[in-house]
Amino acid sequence: MLTHDLVADRSFFGGLAVQPADALLGLIGLYRADDRPGKMDLGVGMFRDDLGRTPVMRAVKAAEAQLVETQATKSYLGAEGDVRFAELLAEVAFGTGSDRLTGVQTPGGTGALRLGAELIARSRPGATVWIGTPTWPNHAPIFRDAGLAIQTHRFFDVASAAIDFDAMVEDLGEAQAGDVLLLHGCCHNPTGAGFTGAQWWDIARLCESRGLLPFIDLAYQGLGDGLEADAAAMRALLKALPEAVIAYSCDKNFGLYRERVGALWVQSASTEPVRGNLLALARSIWSMPPDHGAAVVRLVLEDPALRADWAAELDAMRARINGLRAALAASHPRLETIAGQRGMFALLPLGPDAVEALRREHGIYMAGNGRINIAGLTLENIPAFIVGVAPYLS
Ligand code: LMR
Repeated sequence: MLTHDLVADRSFFGGLAVQPADALLGLIGLYRADDRPGKMDLGVGMFRDDLGRTPVMRAVKAAEAQLVETQATKSYLGAEGDVRFAELLAEVAFGTGSDRLTGVQTPGGTGALRLGAELIARSRPGATVWIGTPTWPNHAPIFRDAGLAIQTHRFFDVASAAIDFDAMVEDLGEAQAGDVLLLHGCCHNPTGAGFTGAQWWDIARLCESRGLLPFIDLAYQGLGDGLEADAAAMRALLKALPEAVIAYSCDKNFGLYRERVGALWVQSASTEPVRGNLLALARSIWSMPPDHGAAVVRLVLEDPALRADWAAELDAMRARINGLRAALAASHPRLETIAGQRGMFALLPLGPDAVEALRREHGIYMAGNGRINIAGLTLENIPAFIVGVAPYLS
């Protein structure tokens, strides 16, 4: 007769540690279960309109209808996904083509980050990735699970609500040739803080002199200052440096969150080995990326009318976010810096107790580190938001 212990010892999975639920995604369920009428969803980063909805963009809806009508087959596309999608998206991201760039479609920006991490792990096993603090909570697990080492450097000073560039450069003094430097291309998550043009040049020089590989996460193009402006720093970095990795997400700027649409590009002198390894890695992880969302993006970018309508709706989304930024900044002296930051997020100087109390007492839902999704606010509920948070803003 087997004892319980013996069974546990033989279990394949008995040694697994219990994992905490994903705190950010957990907010979706908590918010849904709250039936207070004035509740505010400032948690997960999704665009919201004045009525709190995350609508399907007009051009996306039209392209989906077209796809249903015209798609003749669902046959396999291959590990690279929709090649035309990647070509058209590359024009949006990089402006002009480049023979040093090779790219593949990925399941969302997360898939792109993971594929890039796996490529680095294959090329330089155990390489170190430098990540600024704070950052998107999924960054470190993605790189760590691919077998890479993580080092953090200071980035944002919560008390002064500003980038501490000197501290960042000081910490990166420890970086070794062959290390990777993770950068947010625009609309930093969670702080909204962006480097100045001069600081981007300093970063380029730092990467060059120390032999660091920049890995740029571009998940919010068009939601900061515009499609071109939001890509400018990345494009300058690519011009200045021989090699770089770019993970792109269409979740936010096409509103395709659940469709999982993204792409990974690698800039290198010889693209063929990179391409072959990307395809081999993709094949062994997901074989082929999901098609629907990428096909929709392709149709939108291919059709001048749909493309113009998509860009116009994106402009309006950005204008709404930046209008809310200005209104928030004018509502409390401690929030003034929010006007100059960009993208969906701002990081408020709130501890976990304050975040919890705001949820309990005011139905205000935000990430545990004090990050708010600005798009979750409206001009009408900003005063109620300020009533809630003001006692906690020192
Ligand atoms: C966020 O940071 O809220 C989004 O990027 C959603 C996610 O996957 O975490």
